[in-house]
Amino acid sequence: MGPGVLTGPFPRRDGVLHGGSHRLDALAEEFGTPLYVYDLDAVEGAYRRLLDAFAGVPLDVAYSVKANGALAVLHRLASLGAGADIVSEGELFRALRAGIPAHRIVFAGVAKSEAEMEAALRAGIRAFNVESAGELERLDGVAERLGVVAPFAVRVNPDVLSPTPHEYTRTGHASTKFGVGPDEALELYARARARPTLKAVGVDAHIGSQIREVEPFVQALARLETVVHGLRAQGEALEFLDMGGGFGVAYEPGVEPSDHGGTLDLRTLARELGPRVRALGLRLILEPGRSIVGEAGVMLTRVEIVKRSGDKVFVVVDGGMTELIRPSHYGGYHHIEPVVARPDPQGPVVVDVVGPICETGDFLARDRALALPRPGDLLAVRTAGAYGFTMASNYNARRRPAEAAVSGDRVELIRARESLDDLIRGERMPFDDLATPPS
Ligand SMILES: Cc1ncc(COP(=O)(O)O)c(C=O)c1O
Repeated sequence: MGPGVLTGPFPRRDGVLHGGSHRLDALAEEFGTPLYVYDLDAVEGAYRRLLDAFAGVPLDVAYSVKANGALAVLHRLASLGAGADIVSEGELFRALRAGIPAHRIVFAGVAKSEAEMEAALRAGIRAFNVESAGELERLDGVAERLGVVAPFAVRVNPDVLSPTPHEYTRTGHASTKFGVGPDEALELYARARARPTLKAVGVDAHIGSQIREVEPFVQALARLETVVHGLRAQGEALEFLDMGGGFGVAYEPGVEPSDHGGTLDLRTLARELGPRVRALGLRLILEPGRSIVGEAGVMLTRVEIVKRSGDKVFVVVDGGMTELIRPSHYGGYHHIEPVVARPDPQGPVVVDVVGPICETGDFLARDRALALPRPGDLLAVRTAGAYGFTMASNYNARRRPAEAAVSGDRVELIRARESLDDLIRGERMPFDDLATPPS
């Protein structure tokens, strides 16, 4: 596959990859590498495509902040009317700061702390997606102490095995830690009915991430319908059905971006789910993350060293698992191509693209055919807008990278590269008086 095969954001023009109207090599020059670049127009495009696909269905989108929590990204989505799916007080803080109203926020996660529940209740979020009896009790206690009513949905584990590329991204089968089975869900709703501090407002599920087939969602919906009918029979008034996120995007060349089929077809999904949700008389909440931001981001990284070891060729770049952990954590594939194309008379060479971090598991690609780059060359790691920066770490005392955003002919740094002082913020060196003086 040659460079520029994937269509969509970050096209190649005159041999150079662009973000909006900007050359990506110019952005790397200006802001340094490794660098994340997001195309906010592409974020908006993906959001609008989801709305279009579900036209006619009473839909509320709660964008999943964990995929990319950059304030600039959240702010663009807020301006389009998006809500948020959050999993921590930190994500609540980010979402509110970016302008997402509390009444559009749903709070997931298997063990929200009392402090987190309190912060979300005080903010007035739309619903807690509760994942166990223990959590429901805890929510009851916090709401009672605050003298408020907590809106909640139970996260139902529909016991559907989602065909995701990696087992770590499957969350909808019974042997995962997520949610409770349909029978236990009905018990939890019944228990809550006796509590004036708890108000059931919906039924929730999320079956995994990077799912490219419609069928698992349809199977999950069947289980959720049973729960909704059971609750209705008990006189429960519900407002929404939350089907979570997980809609797959294109990572590999030859697989077209999500709006052209070849990966999860949102229109088919809407055709399958829409009428059934309407028949239930509920609003549909979706919690997409990756499908909104994945293709709208690239990570730019510069080649430091090219070395041979045994029969391998290593292209060592300045960004690795601390900036983008998906390849080493999930075996995630990212298409990698030169930012500036140049003639390649020798043809592609099979290389490992690795980072500078002291781990054998530190790689961006293995056994990948690439035009052999030279030190100083700039590479673009595609489809890095989701679960890229949000999973970045300071391991090896590395400073987390900068993030920039483009929109049409505008470009802005949206997060500065961390400084050395950022690395030691909050640290202290106590107990000097206990130290044995050097002899
Ligand atoms: C509860 C919940 N909702 C939504 C998402 C978003 O998934 P995705 O980014 O695949 O759309 C996740 C991610 O795992 C999740 O845990």
